[in-house]
Amino acid sequence: MPCLRKYSNVVRNNAMTLTDEYINQNIWRNWTSYIEALPIKDTDIILDLGCGTGHVSKLLSEHVLKVISMDANAKLLDEAKMINNKSNVEYLKQDLRNISESELPVVDGIWTSFVAAYFPDFSSVLKSWLKFLKPDGWIAVVEINDLFAHFPLNVSTYESFKEFYREERNNNHYDYEMGSKLVKFLQDESLSIIVHESKYDKELSFNGPAEEQISKAWENRFNRLTALQEFFGKEKYSDIKLEFLDCLTKETHTCKAKVTFVVAKK
Ligand SMILES: C[S@@+](CC[C@H](N)C(=O)[O-])C[C@H]1O[C@@H](n2cnc3c(N)ncnc32)[C@H](O)[C@@H]1O
Repeated sequence: MPCLRKYSNVVRNNAMTLTDEYINQNIWRNWTSYIEALPIKDTDIILDLGCGTGHVSKLLSEHVLKVISMDANAKLLDEAKMINNKSNVEYLKQDLRNISESELPVVDGIWTSFVAAYFPDFSSVLKSWLKFLKPDGWIAVVEINDLFAHFPLNVSTYESFKEFYREERNNNHYDYEMGSKLVKFLQDESLSIIVHESKYDKELSFNGPAEEQISKAWENRFNRLTALQEFFGKEKYSDIKLEFLDCLTKETHTCKAKVTFVVAKK
């Protein structure tokens, strides 16, 4: 039964769904260390924007009065409702570009992890979100910067990844360098930065050879990134994928990708 599924049981095989992948990824994020840095109070009502399978919503709900969690993906929300079903978490299907003001209270805090990059025009989206934040409220944003900056890679391979980043950003699909821009976006809205850290992440930001499960997770990521596949073309893509996965297994593997965590106050 899905509702009895434990996070650690989901590491499986090639046939993983996106939902399974998102559930797995939570094993490799040290969410407690993020939550400890938040200025949360047990009376807070907060938003989790782009909550996915609701893992962080559940953790946050243990510290606050209420979490209102939103995502556009109905399948992920169904999973969240089954496995992360705390009574003080409300799940809403919602496009984060157009949150209807009439649906929400003004909140004490906003959490959004690995979501900002979906909005290369983050400035306008952020502005719309901040309308829901109380005058002394906080916002916490987690985002990756330079996802494929794992080495040793051929110089030409890394340059191709950078070219792909540019294409995705110009098409307004995704900004692979959003992590490095968060502070500026938040400061441009006159928010005060109270936390700005790069977080170790077992899957995304680590050095040395990857564990088998981590390599598998990266292989799954390559298998589902159709935009990257189209960018390289089918034949070249399988070489790039092999080169990247091989790089992760090396003793000399180093990583410049960063998971950036920023907390700001109004
Ligand atoms: C990488 S997942 C992150 C999930 C979760 N926050 C976490 O940290 O594990 C990104 C989430 O953002 C959601 N998302 C992306 N664009 C969205 C949009 N325009 N409106 C609502 N949700 C969106 C996706 O459905 C997905 O669940």
